[in-house]
Amino acid sequence: MAIQQRNDHITHQINALVETFYRHLLEEQYFSEMFEKRQVNIEVLKERQRVFIMSLVSDGENGEEEVSQVQTRHPFQTTPERAKIWLQIMKESMIEEQFDEELQQHLLQKMKRLMTSIVKEKE
Ligand code: HEM
Repeated sequence: MAIQQRNDHITHQINALVETFYRHLLEEQYFSEMFEKRQVNIEVLKERQRVFIMSLVSDGENGEEEVSQVQTRHPFQTTPERAKIWLQIMKESMIEEQFDEELQQHLLQKMKRLMTSIVKEKE
């Protein structure tokens, strides 16, 4: 596949992923209540998440920038159970959007590592 075509394909897949992911995440009461309480603008969040995931795709390793963006935008800590649900929904959304196996593994691995900075055992 030509590079431009491949980029368009990935951009398209990520847009679809972000839609599907937040649709499923917001079906979970904990997450929908949390976003509501914090008055998060979901459309803005989706746009930022699209840009963020694109940067994860093109990076070789986790850049400092991505780690600090996740840390500053998540001043709260979450539990291992909730982290698991978040990652599970992300994985299922990738399957639903027919992500290539390689891209799926690459992104999930990075997301798992980013998650460790906002997880603690007890709230
Ligand atoms: C259980 C785990 C998580 C919870 C409860 C959570 C919750 C949230 C909330 C409430 C916001 C909105 C923050 C705001 O508008 O100020 C947000 C933004 C965001 N989250 Fe998460 N998040 C989780 C895990 C993750 C992970 C693992 C990643 C990395 C892949 C991530 C990436 C992002 C990004 C990129 C934004 C937008 C950042 C920005 O506005 O600059 N989140 N998240």
